[in-house]
Amino acid sequence: MAFSRALISSLVLIFLLFSLSEARDILVGGKNDSWKIPASESESLNRWAEGYRFQIGDSLVWKFDPQTDSVLLVTKKEYVTCNTTSPIAEYKEDNSKVKLDRSGPFYFISGAQGHCDKGQKLTVVVVSERRGYMGLSPAPSPMENEGPAMAPTSSASGLKAGMMVMILGSLFGMVLF
Ligand SMILES: *[C@@H]1O[C@H](CO)[C@@H](O)[C@H](O)[C@H]1NC(C)=O
Ligand SMILES: *[C@@H]1O[C@H](CO)[C@@H](O)[C@H](O)[C@H]1NC(C)=O
Repeated sequence: MAFSRALISSLVLIFLLFSLSEARDILVGGKNDSWKIPASESESLNRWAEGYRFQIGDSLVWKFDPQTDSVLLVTKKEYVTCNTTSPIAEYKEDNSKVKLDRSGPFYFISGAQGHCDKGQKLTVVVVSERRGYMGLSPAPSPMENEGPAMAPTSSASGLKAGMMVMILGSLFGMVLF
């Protein structure tokens, strides 16, 4: 029955991937003028980011004046120390779009001198699909629970019953989700 559960889970996962995980463009800070030195801790971009569940495929959109600012993608160490000398990537144009192409943390700091030290920085943690959808796996279906009772003596009938449960289980999973 473990196999049938795995099958249902994969089917549900595939279905979810196609139906729910539409890539989004996310305006950083939710406002056009968010990429700046925060006035207070509560206005920091990291506070804003806490309210989001970033997924692989989403893009961050940055709005700022390219004359005075930029966005640097850096390592954790550079993020912590506000070291702007050798970023992984640099985004210098207004409306720069940064695709979140993997799970895990992304570290951004301002390229404007001294701004990072004053709090103009952002960490975004992208959840992996598997971890993200774990909470949505279906409850065991009634079909599955009847499985052992239906598969008593011969292994052939057990197999047949197992297949039946698998198919019904898949349908059940598809219908539910
Ligand atoms: C942001 O700027 C765009 C134009 O660049 C404008 O259309 C949009 O309404 C602005 N959004 C906000 C929230 O100010
Ligand atoms: C900043 O990073 C560069 C490259 O990793 C390094 O050579 C430099 O010493 C760092 N600067 C400071 C102030 O830590």
